[in-house]
Amino acid sequence: MKFYQLSPQERRAILQDQGLKLADIDDKSLMELNQLSENVIGEIRLPLGVVQNLLVNNRSYLVPLATEEPSVVAAANHGAGIFAKNGGVKCSSDRPGIYGQIVLRVDSNFSQSVFEENFPEYITKANERFHSLILHGGGLRRINAELEADLLFIRVLVDPAEAMGANKTNAILEYLAEQMLAFPGISEKLFAILSNYPSQFARAEVKIDPETIGGQAVAQKIALLSKIAQTDVYRAVTNNKGIMNGVDAVLMATGNDYRAVEAATAVHASQTGYTSLSKWFIAHDKLIGQLSLPLAIGTVGGSIKARSDVQQSFSLLGDVSSAQLAEIIAGIGLANNLAALLAISTKGIQAGHMKLQARNIVATLNATTIEKAEVLAKMIENKNYSEHAAQTILEQIRKEAHADRN
Ligand code: MEV
Repeated sequence: MKFYQLSPQERRAILQDQGLKLADIDDKSLMELNQLSENVIGEIRLPLGVVQNLLVNNRSYLVPLATEEPSVVAAANHGAGIFAKNGGVKCSSDRPGIYGQIVLRVDSNFSQSVFEENFPEYITKANERFHSLILHGGGLRRINAELEADLLFIRVLVDPAEAMGANKTNAILEYLAEQMLAFPGISEKLFAILSNYPSQFARAEVKIDPETIGGQAVAQKIALLSKIAQTDVYRAVTNNKGIMNGVDAVLMATGNDYRAVEAATAVHASQTGYTSLSKWFIAHDKLIGQLSLPLAIGTVGGSIKARSDVQQSFSLLGDVSSAQLAEIIAGIGLANNLAALLAISTKGIQAGHMKLQARNIVATLNATTIEKAEVLAKMIENKNYSEHAAQTILEQIRKEAHADRN
């Protein structure tokens, strides 16, 4: 049998026989993961953290974030806390559908105008064929065609209802391509695949009283940093990375395709030359923050139902539609952005990071809980966050405890 045909336990045994060290995993998790991917031999774990109170359109959400990066969940909580003091974040979204592309080769018998007369029929037939999508409120909405030399570029818009819709869109595209190949003058299908071009958008806006973030001077500094991020690409990309810290963490926690969102976001940020995804400015004595993101996400479909970890995230979120989830994600992106701007415009980002690094180092010490707490406190007091410092402090604490006992 080929490696891919084996059970994950058999694959693990082969690797272990070669002397490789594999992390433990229980059979139930292994079998669950084996349904999702190929050649599965284990898992990579991520911490799941929560933002306790993200107030979106007057509803409070408990938001799950899966990330290994220290400070991201703390930053999102910090931003969300400031939003809550200012009436929360106002969000909206449009979900017209996701794009699909079919590219066909045509010959001299092809007539575009006659071909386009068939579009209503193609739409009706596809919607009959994929009837379940209609039942869920979605369906094939639009077909456009453009001819470039002997290539016909067809663009369709599929409303995937509550799903992200990649699989359904690809199935519809393949069906349509087959139908179209029967049209006179269409000689060859080059490809039929969804496009990750931005189409499903969510927007977030907050209006912040400067007193809730340390005063007018801080608000003005944030507005200035935002202005810099709009023109300086070195700052823009870092600003956007801070936004994606929160966005990707919710996407990961909810089993959504973060690669699709990242790819679409790169296009969205580059429409007029790469720039900041967010904007912060002062108007009527308030600091206004705005963010818009392309979020082709879903609350059903894909691996969502099959994964108990993802189901846990949805139970934390409560009953949410895909539009609401997209709005929550935009709100989290803006919260992370505000927290990062606050940190870098005041005490700098490193102070918080170093404390978290100290916590990570202390966690690896072979010491009691009380000793670990003492070591951490001393590292923070001395502002020395190295492994060597942690060991030295631990030895010192033990020496002192020993001396006290004798
Ligand atoms: C770090 O992961 C993200 C930040 O660099 C974002 C920013 O600078 O805005 C803090």
